[in-house]
Order: sequence, then structure tokens, then C-alpha cells
Amino acid sequence: MADIKKTWYKEMCVYQIWTRSFCDSNGDGIGDLPGVYSKLDYLKELGVDGIWFSPIYPTPNADYGYDISDYRNINPEFGTLDDFKKILEGAHERGMRVFMDLVVNHTSDEHEWFKESAKSVDNPYHDYYIWRKGKGNRPPNNWLSTFEGGAWEYNPDIDEYYLHVFAKKQPDLNMDNPKVRQEVKDIMRYWLDMGVDGFREDVITFISKREGLPDGIPLPVATGVEHYKHGPHLEEYLDEFKRDVYDHYDCFTVGEGPMSDIKMAKDFVTEGPNQKLNMMISFEHMNANCFMVDWVKTPFNLIKLKSTLSKWQYGLYGKGWNCLYIENHDHARIIERYGNINYRVESGKMLAAMYFLLCGTPFIYQGQEIGMTNILLDKLSDCKDVMTFNNWRIFKKLGYSEKRFLKLAKDVSRENSRTPVQWSEAENAGFTTGKPWFNINPNYKEINVEDDLKNPDSILNFYKKLIKLRKENEVLIYGKYKEYDHLNPFLYTYERVLGNDRVLVVCSFKEGSVRFKAPKGYDLSKGELVLSNYSDNKIVNNGFVTKPYEVRVYMFK
Ligand code: NOJ
Repeated sequence: MADIKKTWYKEMCVYQIWTRSFCDSNGDGIGDLPGVYSKLDYLKELGVDGIWFSPIYPTPNADYGYDISDYRNINPEFGTLDDFKKILEGAHERGMRVFMDLVVNHTSDEHEWFKESAKSVDNPYHDYYIWRKGKGNRPPNNWLSTFEGGAWEYNPDIDEYYLHVFAKKQPDLNMDNPKVRQEVKDIMRYWLDMGVDGFREDVITFISKREGLPDGIPLPVATGVEHYKHGPHLEEYLDEFKRDVYDHYDCFTVGEGPMSDIKMAKDFVTEGPNQKLNMMISFEHMNANCFMVDWVKTPFNLIKLKSTLSKWQYGLYGKGWNCLYIENHDHARIIERYGNINYRVESGKMLAAMYFLLCGTPFIYQGQEIGMTNILLDKLSDCKDVMTFNNWRIFKKLGYSEKRFLKLAKDVSRENSRTPVQWSEAENAGFTTGKPWFNINPNYKEINVEDDLKNPDSILNFYKKLIKLRKENEVLIYGKYKEYDHLNPFLYTYERVLGNDRVLVVCSFKEGSVRFKAPKGYDLSKGELVLSNYSDNKIVNNGFVTKPYEVRVYMFK
């Protein structure tokens, strides 16, 4: 095998918390840190080794925390710094690490730096952001935001525009300014010194913009992205952060890289003197049922999914490390994307094993472990996400009625992953005793943590087994990956091999049955079935006929 360096971050399984919808302790309808604290034992029981908090800093909530107004404090809706320190201590006591979301491509427009920067062109903070003169009555270039219309906002007081590649309340920082990089490094140190174990770095690959900010190729959204998706100084700045900060701590970094490809990932995560990040969050494998962005739906294509996963598995093996995920706060629930709601439990388990047993560090998003599903919102005014409203403007122009749009949103929007976690059958799913800030999925009486904990065949208990299995078998962490039967449009079959240990993972993405035949060199009768989602696991002719969304994991020693 390639010589893989063993380290803690490769062996862990991370749980992502989007605090607002996790657990409310004080009845104000909003999830909070004491709520998280009350669930630390639950997370420990599940078997996770680390918690990643989506941003929990003060924020005006234009993008629910991805618009930070103070990098050194806690959103008062969620609690206090002391509440956070208590979690840090509680997590560490239980052997779990804590990771913060570091959002430094942009701040909130309510951050002090921005308020100062907007006061005058001579203000010392002016150059913290990307301000430019317009071209006559027009903005400085044709860039469009990912979230809402143009990427420039005019400030008549100083007769300049500022750049925001996301919402207009998220002005982009000018990372070319050494003072800004110094601030960023100080923020990193502030949290690391407090005991935080690392960062998930939000759209970190966008932080360097091409000099001169040239016009971009016109697109429906994000025009100009080619000028900052991998900007000229990105690598230099990441090297600087690593050299000046990360190298001095036992911490880990996972960088979000929208539109990143395997080549870029290799450049960034290959271990050695030029490594910039420990892992990269790629979006490619989330495009198996859409074209480029979630809102442009296409039929699910297993071969596309397998091609992408295999490309990253082969590409990084022995060089760097993969970040494995199938859900987060930016996507609809996976069962409704790659699984089948009519086989919620079966497909939920199959999908879990499918990604979890690949080579990399698996991330679980809150609610994924009980197979939470999407939500149909009745009216636009029930929606919460800036991206939904932006898409409404686009789809309205295409002739969509509100009703038709909400039906589409039910399949693709980020609202789906942001409904409160369903803890029990109690009122408001046990999430809050007050009025929840956002609709609770009405299916909480059938889908909730309490029931899943009691039911040995639940998705939750399947995740527990999966986490334990991975932890107890190095082959599932460091083993080499190989895919079989690539052109099969219904089955995903792969192996992991380490020394004499071999594991064969067979996943069916079909509602009907498919004949699976073990690859050459495998005798199923000699293997131990270590995980499956049906109780009948007969082997016929060194294979089997699959049941809907069946998964089997055989181990050979
Ligand atoms: C990526 C985050 O995951 C997403 O939720 C956010 O809206 C954008 N970055 C902007 O910060």
C-alpha cells in the first residue's frame, strides 16, 4: 500500500451542527448552545469524534451566521462565550474535538470593519474591503452574485461600489491587504488558543480575486467566478495561514472549495511541504441529480456519482485525504436526492454505508442519522433562506407560479436541511417548548431520535454500527479503494484492501432487483457479512439478487 501517514483527523467521524435548528434549551424557539450541551452524551453515544459548528458568531442572520458581525464572540441568540467554553470542555472530556466555521471571504455589512470602511475613502478600514469606482452609472464590472443579482452595491456617500459575491449584506474582504490577513490569523489564534481543534473554512478558495477585476463570461448567476474561484494569490495566502498559524497547533483544516476539481484538490491537500489544507470539501459528487447547481434538477445518474467518487478516491489515495459527506446545511436531504422516500429506511442505510466506507473522513449532518426528509412549505413567506428568495426571482421570470416554485424548492432548496431536528414525538418534535423559529417537518411523529434509539433496526442504530465498524477496522480507514462493475447503472460495488484484510461493499440504487455477482477473486461464502440492511442475506451462485436499495458489506480476513 502507499505509505499513508496515520493521524487523528483521518480516523475521526465528524458531526455537523447547525445550531439554530439543533436543540432549544430556553423555549425561545431557536436552537442554542446549552441545547447542544444537553446532547453531548447523545453525540458521544452515536460514536462521533468531533463536532463542526456552522457559524455561531454574532450575526444579523442575512445568511444565518455566514454573515459575521463579530469574530470573537457568540451569537446572543445561541448563548455566551461561557456556554461555548462549557461545550468545549464537555466535548474534550468525552474525547470529542470541536471545529469552528471560519468565514473570511466576507463579513457582515454590520461588522465594525465594514461600517468604518464605508465612512470615507480615507478611513483606515476602507481597504479592508473591495471598493471601486463605477463605470459611469454602471458598476465596476459585470459580475453577478451567487445569491442576489449584481455583485456590486453602490454607496452614494462615498460614490463607490463594494463587491459582494454572495448577498449584499456579505461584503467581500480584501485579502490582498496584509492587515486583513493579519486580522484573519489573529482570529484563528484566538479560537485555537481557547482550545478549538480546527476549522472548516467557508468558500476559502474564493479569497483571492484577479487583479483588475475583469468582466466575466456572462452566466445566469455568479458571473465572474472564473476570476476568483482559484485566484492568483490563493495558494500564497493559504501557505501563509499554515506557516504562521496552523503549523503551531495540533489542529486540522477542511476548506470548502466550490467548483474545485481533483487537480486543485491534489495541489492543496497533498501531504508534504506544499500542503495547504488537510481536506477539501468538493461539490462534484453532489451533482449526480443536477446540473452544476442543485436548482437545475436532472434525473439521478449513478454512473455520474460513481465516476466522481472514484476519481477522488483514486486521485487522493496515498497523497492527501478525502472529506466524505452526503448532506450538509446547503443541500436537500440525501434520501430524497439519491435514495427513495418510499424506501426511506432501506435507502437511508444504503447511502450511509455507501459514502461512509470510502477512504476519507466522514461527516454527518444533524438529522441525517435518523433519515430526516425534505419539507413542502405552503407559502413563500414560510421560507427563510436568502437563496430561496433569489431563486424565486429567477424562476418567477421563467413563468413559475409560487405553488410550482415551492414544489421545486421541496426537492432542491437549502430550507430542507434547516428544519429543526426531530428529537421525539412530543410537541414541536421535542426541539423547543416555545414557538419554533422555522416549520417543523410534520412527519416528526414517525421520524425522530427517541424512536430510532429504541428500534434496533433504525437508521440511527445503523449509523452507530457503521461508525463502530469503521473505528474497529483499519482497512476501512486506510485501505486502498477499487471500484468494480463501473458501467452498472444500478449497483455501486467497491473494495477496500489493507494487508490481508479485504472489504467488499455492494450498494443497490434500484427499487427493483438486480443480479449481483461477486467480482473475480471473491468467494462470498468465505466472507463475514458485517453490515446489511435486510435480514435475509442468502448467497446464490457467489452473488445475490438485490432487494430494493440493498447494501451488504462483506469482510474477508
Ligand atoms: C458556503 C456556506 O456553506 C453557505 O451556507 C453560505 O451561504 C456561503 N458559503 C456563503 O458564506
